[in-house]
Amino acid sequence: MKSNVKKEERCLKVGVLGCGVICQAAHLIGCSKARNIHLQAICDVAEDLLDKMAAIYEPDSIYTDYAKMLADPNVDAVIIGIGDQFHVPCAKQAVEAGKHVFLEKPMGVSIEECEELKKIAGEKGVMLQIGHMKRYDEGLQYAKKFKEEKMGEVTTYKGWYCDSVGRYTLTDNVMPILYSSGAMKKPEGNPKAVLDRYYLLGHGSHLFDTALYFMGSIDSIAARYVHREKLHSWLIDCNFTSGAIGTLDLTVAIAQKWHEGCEIYGTGGTVYAKTFNPWEFRSSVVECYDKRSDISFTPAAYDGQFYRRELEGFADSILNHAPCTGATAEDGIMVMRALIATYQSVQQGGRTVRLSDVEGGL
Ligand SMILES: NC(=O)c1ccc[n+]([C@@H]2O[C@H](COP(=O)([O-])OP(=O)(O)OC[C@H]3O[C@@H](n4cnc5c(N)ncnc54)[C@H](O)[C@@H]3O)[C@@H](O)[C@H]2O)c1
Repeated sequence: MKSNVKKEERCLKVGVLGCGVICQAAHLIGCSKARNIHLQAICDVAEDLLDKMAAIYEPDSIYTDYAKMLADPNVDAVIIGIGDQFHVPCAKQAVEAGKHVFLEKPMGVSIEECEELKKIAGEKGVMLQIGHMKRYDEGLQYAKKFKEEKMGEVTTYKGWYCDSVGRYTLTDNVMPILYSSGAMKKPEGNPKAVLDRYYLLGHGSHLFDTALYFMGSIDSIAARYVHREKLHSWLIDCNFTSGAIGTLDLTVAIAQKWHEGCEIYGTGGTVYAKTFNPWEFRSSVVECYDKRSDISFTPAAYDGQFYRRELEGFADSILNHAPCTGATAEDGIMVMRALIATYQSVQQGGRTVRLSDVEGGL
């Protein structure tokens, strides 16, 4: 049957590892729609789920054994969308097999394993991109360019990521039907048993990556945390290496609608960004005020499918040897350091923690 999808002449042949939530809702459809990707293979140990996804997305090959997918010479790159604890071991396997890797966020669960993965990928000369998809939000991309070109000296960053108590009412409506299977491979134990760690990894990674995207590296962090009933809230002071100061708010979940965004102050202008729940596929609405012209700019930013856009960016880098436009391994590690520094600062009564000093995992 014909479809309306248009593909470029040269496409990256991709194998997707995992047929769970993120791959069903983002990466399988993302590969199918991406202008420069061919869905070569998919892999999941859960055979019933694999068959279901194969029936919908029609890859050339299907595998229940990841090693066999990595041995397939037609697979140029893998997209890894599996539990956090499996990220680094499976990414290392792919790198060893000479495949380029797109790895879901967070990069891993400890700094040491992430550093090692980065080193091996460098030695093997393969591309390693981390799935911090907000870097492909067209609104934020516009604001970043504006910041670099118009805002003069940037002094201040305020970022907030507040999940909503109404999240599932919204996502059940806008996401596709999500299939699951008793045969899915899950990490040992229950990652949700310690909720503060779980929320930091799952949600905090987005908050920090957006801050890093705009402001560059973070030098040190001091954090406070409060928890009442189902509300977990962190307020995080950060000092950026540039000399700018920042404050970040991570809250899961507020008794309100989804509340995410940032404000950036510079001597030549100001950015305000309102970001939506990702499953609405809407670009952030940004207002960029330019002091020199006394005008505020708000781009239309029509293409809100940042999950597809991040895969296209990944494929562009490999096919055309273009620099990475998403989060590099370095960025992924900086996010990990920031998450662990936040956790340690809270444990130590709000002490300032330098990111270069943190080690271990979450
Ligand atoms: N970027 C985002 O907005 C976003 C949103 C949701 C989830 N995520 C990330 O995506 C990742 C996956 O989350 P999920 O909820 O989709 O997980 P999931 O547990 O629903 O699905 C993972 C699937 O991978 C399969 N699998 C795991 N290891 C395998 C192996 N070695 N071989 C074959 N199959 C294997 C499992 O059987 C399962 O079906 C997490 O790291 C999460 O943080 C990112």
